[in-house]
Amino acid sequence: MKNFVLENPTKIIFGKGTIAEIGPEAKAIGSKALLVYGRGSIRANGVHDQVTASLRDAGCLWVEHGGVKSNPVLSHVRQGVALARSEQVDLVLAVGGGSVIDTAKAIAAGATVNHDVWKIFTAKKGVRSPLPVCCVLTLAASGSEMNGGMVITNDEKGLKLGAGHKDLKPRVSILDPEATFSVPPDYTAYGAVDAIAHILEFYFSCQGSFPVQERFMEGLVINIMESGAAAVRQPTDYTARANLMWCATLALNGWTAAGLGLVGFPMHMIEHAVSALYDVPHGAGLSCVIPAWMRWRSGRSPAKFAQLARRVFAVQATDDAEAAARGIDRLEAWFKTVRSPTRLSELGVDQPDIAALTAHALTQAKIWRLRGYNEDNIAAILAKAL
Ligand code: NZQ
Ligand code: ZN
Repeated sequence: MKNFVLENPTKIIFGKGTIAEIGPEAKAIGSKALLVYGRGSIRANGVHDQVTASLRDAGCLWVEHGGVKSNPVLSHVRQGVALARSEQVDLVLAVGGGSVIDTAKAIAAGATVNHDVWKIFTAKKGVRSPLPVCCVLTLAASGSEMNGGMVITNDEKGLKLGAGHKDLKPRVSILDPEATFSVPPDYTAYGAVDAIAHILEFYFSCQGSFPVQERFMEGLVINIMESGAAAVRQPTDYTARANLMWCATLALNGWTAAGLGLVGFPMHMIEHAVSALYDVPHGAGLSCVIPAWMRWRSGRSPAKFAQLARRVFAVQATDDAEAAARGIDRLEAWFKTVRSPTRLSELGVDQPDIAALTAHALTQAKIWRLRGYNEDNIAAILAKAL
């Protein structure tokens, strides 16, 4: 176990009927909010009405910035920054999934600096005293509701980059599993895959043995597979939705990573290139990249992959390479049972521009200081995902 500091100030309010609490929570932070949301789901499922009623009752004013697209774009963030400044809002309230929350964080970061917000993503500038962010989560996936990360696509440059800062962790996040009943089966599955990906990035990238953390991560993967499959089968299964939502939050809120030291996010590095160039859903892209990366990586050192296979998938093989291969096959089979794609061709990406994908991935690798990747091995991983 390496030395670590774990500090997560996000107040989680979890459970049925909790959206009504957003008004008083927001009002305790400021009197005027920028309400950020996506392209229609919160109006269709009634969450917009619940949120605005609560803000009204609490006497918190708001201005709206809807229209966030999945794989959110910089041009829309910039519009939000301008609106936040002109309306002099005190906080940014995200109501939606990861794309909406990441947009809210980018606006919060951009509104308080006198340079373009994209410079934060290229690591040329830092985050300084961002506006407070609050969140009403409607999709279990990204973990953005309890971390300081944000991922935005520069729609002029076709570049999707992630950045983060501790002060971008939401002050308050409302997690009402009933708000996710309307998530369709495909995005439910993609969300579960994304949460599993976050765990596996930590699990496979850490160097050494971390018994408590590893058991914790294995338990989360098992729970996500059980609750994710149940939620795909029955979208209004409260227990499944609640477990999936909480597991996805725990997967990327710092708990799984505590004591592991510095870890990379290579599967995300490659998937961000895919979703930047081909605009596929993040979890769907991961669903193709994960088995490909695992097959490539386990070929070099299978022990950790064999451990996951034995503990999570009850694989019996004594030989590590054989156990690892069977475990990856079983994970891939689970992706198929929830109808998440396992080959990029299923997403319409038949003849991807490997050179462009590789260049994109290496740009992110440089910013993240992720070593060990080059044109050859990224192309080899992508070849396994086709
Ligand atoms: O446009 P709206 O109406 O919001 O519809 C969304 C969108 O079409 C819909 N949806 C959300 N909640 C719903 C719902 N539909 C019905 N009922 C509901 N309750 O689902 C679709 C996908 O939403 P999106 O927010 O894009 O999904 P997700 O939460 O998977 O977020 C993906 C983004 O998060 C980034 C990804 O790169 C991607 O851009 N990530 C952010 C991370 C972070 N900040 O820590 C970590 C992740 O690894 C990830 O990279
Ligand atoms: Zn992810």
